[in-house]
Amino acid sequence: MPLNIYARTALLRNFWHDMRRYARHSFAIASNGRENQRAIIRILTHYLEGGESFPDVRLGFGQEKAHSILNKIEVYVADFEADDTVLWAHATLESYLAFHRCQGMPLVDIEERHAEQARRLCIHPRDGGGGSELVRAEEIRNAVDFDFGESLRNRHSVRQYTPAQISDDQIHKIVVNAQQCPNVCNRQTIRVYAYNDRKTVQKILPLQAGNAGFRQEIGTLFIVTANLEHFNLIGERYQGWIDGGIFAMTLALAIHAEGLGACFLNWSVEQEADQLLRNALRIPDNEIVITCMSAGHLKDEFRVPVSARKPLDEVLTLSREVVL
Ligand SMILES: Cc1cc2nc3c(=O)[nH]c(=O)nc-3n(C[C@H](O)[C@H](O)[C@H](O)COP(=O)(O)O)c2cc1C
Repeated sequence: MPLNIYARTALLRNFWHDMRRYARHSFAIASNGRENQRAIIRILTHYLEGGESFPDVRLGFGQEKAHSILNKIEVYVADFEADDTVLWAHATLESYLAFHRCQGMPLVDIEERHAEQARRLCIHPRDGGGGSELVRAEEIRNAVDFDFGESLRNRHSVRQYTPAQISDDQIHKIVVNAQQCPNVCNRQTIRVYAYNDRKTVQKILPLQAGNAGFRQEIGTLFIVTANLEHFNLIGERYQGWIDGGIFAMTLALAIHAEGLGACFLNWSVEQEADQLLRNALRIPDNEIVITCMSAGHLKDEFRVPVSARKPLDEVLTLSREVVL
């Protein structure tokens, strides 16, 4: 294999750049900022929320975590206000405590701390919509009673749009729907920058190479980023890309579900190009850019690449055995 010094050096330089950003903004090394603190509260809260939804709930689970949430909230509200994260945590604690009460095992010391904190911070636990809820299989089956495969087969990367502009209301709806995607510990690390003014979009697009053949068609542009301040483990160093990818795909499907067209526009760039976009759009240093995506109204007829899929056996390994 030829030793390509230039490529190796560039690769190392880019990894080093990414590593520094992760070290600076995640709390894998030290926790300090507001978002780091919010993330810790969300991780702990999610533990309680998740614990309630297991098939066999272990009574008394999570008491240490519950105390820890109350402690972290004290520190948090000393510097910041009781925001949606605090409300969610309180509502989840309320549900957790009610669950134990109903099972004949009231967690008195946590109940007292929770009630006292709620009183002092003027929090009504129900404000935050947390805890667990009962859902019915029938409701889910009714909601998916359509041919999802057919819908997927009719999604294409669309590179032609009519001049009509997508409305801001539709953009709100699309992003609210995309927010329903799964994400690590419900930390919701993703931010979407939506540009819905044709002139502005046309100024941004030259920064991305993959739209050159259809740039003039594009009137709406989404940019999906992930906030590194929500990650706390070294093992999570790529989690932003994963959550971002999942969000971006859901965004594409939400656009498709509106009867509109979308095309991912890759942000597979080196640090210099990345910095240009960040500077132009004022994307803060703590966010990583996952992808761009164009969107627009469908023409009555238009061409798309067939983009044939690989044979299933190249994609699927369906196993019954494992050597352990
Ligand atoms: C992360 C990602 C980046 C992409 N970047 C571009 C791009 O820059 N320009 C483009 O025309 N298509 C881009 N695409 C679209 C792919 O070419 C397309 O999804 C693929 O060929 C499959 O076709 P389909 O989406 O129509 O099924 C991208 C897709 C993904 C998932």
